[in-house]
Amino acid sequence: MNLVMIGTGYVGLVTGLGFAKLGHRVACVDTDAAKVARLDLGETPFYEPGMPELLREMQEAGRIVFTTDLKSVIGGAEIIMIAVGTPAGKDGFADLSYVEAAADSIGSLLDHEALVVVKSSVPVGTNRAVLDRIRRAMGAAGREALTTIVNVVSLPEFLRPGFALRDFMEPDRIVIGADDAVAQQTLDRLHDGITAPRVLLSLESAELTKYAANALLATKVSFINEIANIAERTGADVREVARAVGLDRRIGPHFLQAGIGYGGSCFPKDVSALHQMAGTTGYEFKLLSAVIEVNNAQRERFVTRIVEEMHGVRGRRLAVWGLAFKGGTDDVRGSSAIDIVQRLVGLGAEIVAYDPQGMELAQRMLPEQVQFASTAVDATTGADALLVLTEWPEFCDVSFETVRERMAEPNVFDGRNLLAELGLKGMGFAYRGVGIRE
Ligand code: UGA
Repeated sequence: MNLVMIGTGYVGLVTGLGFAKLGHRVACVDTDAAKVARLDLGETPFYEPGMPELLREMQEAGRIVFTTDLKSVIGGAEIIMIAVGTPAGKDGFADLSYVEAAADSIGSLLDHEALVVVKSSVPVGTNRAVLDRIRRAMGAAGREALTTIVNVVSLPEFLRPGFALRDFMEPDRIVIGADDAVAQQTLDRLHDGITAPRVLLSLESAELTKYAANALLATKVSFINEIANIAERTGADVREVARAVGLDRRIGPHFLQAGIGYGGSCFPKDVSALHQMAGTTGYEFKLLSAVIEVNNAQRERFVTRIVEEMHGVRGRRLAVWGLAFKGGTDDVRGSSAIDIVQRLVGLGAEIVAYDPQGMELAQRMLPEQVQFASTAVDATTGADALLVLTEWPEFCDVSFETVRERMAEPNVFDGRNLLAELGLKGMGFAYRGVGIRE
């Protein structure tokens, strides 16, 4: 099939490449000319395992192209996918201005039958509003007669940065929200080659599914963080509890990793958006208020513990391992690590940070006085404490003998319980995890 992808952000680019790999011809459109030029040269704008290779392969096969000009590629498109951002806008509501702009551009240019697919995470009711908007723009462009053959489908994404290409090819399910059987069939065919079950539902249910999935996962994280806090007060160990409850198949083992709270560009935004969306219907989503509150408190609690145990951090040198919002990505948006570093700098700490991928992007968000090291071990030279803020597996492979020699004081505050199994105490470190028996 011929597919146009509007937006080459994370979701648009991964999805565009995924469909190209499935054999479709994909034209990716973005208003950012510099980004399009880089992509054209085969350079990926963010870190994602496997992506540079796939981009090169698809470009060589002529199955993916990049342009700033929607008009030049919309002609043969059977499917036009909207994958632009829906950032948190005023008061936590999703900002739909990019989606609306995409709908207007499609409507003003479209002169043939096509299916418009909304990939962006949008509040319930948006897909129908997008269809109306496209039809209005078509009418304004003198193509009133064609408006009945355009349709809109909701295709929410469940990609995780770090595993995105695998999530595309081997998803748990493909959620297709559509009003008619023809549109459903077209979307089913578009995914030929992927064996996952298709869940066919209404536009509204598909829109709500996306938010419900992220909000439920965020709820699990806040829940286990509260259990961790109780574990600390009672002598239990949250890792043991998480393993034991996770083996109940009704609960499952995932998203029960206690730590410094969830971050990223998805959970915080989607949890707030669902909370606000509920509010506009006159329903108070009390559970989500608590999920957000617990998440904020978890970051604060981690900082408070460091300050208390070190008797203040003013002028103390702290090595920080990890700035990305989770391991496997360079994405620092909404990162708990960034928030914690900012708070510690505010309290007068000297920070020397290291992240395998996230330093370049983190530098733009952090105060000037934060220093960056070129290796994890280098960051610890002269440090009064080591803080682990992102779950990068490679931190476990560092020589802790060397780290111990380099540090001024052997304090370790592990916000991800990543080093818990390494026996750091036996090596002379004062090790503290989150909700771990000490
Ligand atoms: C999330 C969802 O997992 C994806 O399915 C979804 O497609 C994506 O949002 C999106 O809406 O685009 P992502 O934000 O990449 O993906 O990250 P997750 O792996 O879900 O982790 C979110 C945050 O929760 C991270 O900060 C992570 O460190 C934290 N987390 C996760 C925990 O603290 N504990 C856990 O047990 C799991």
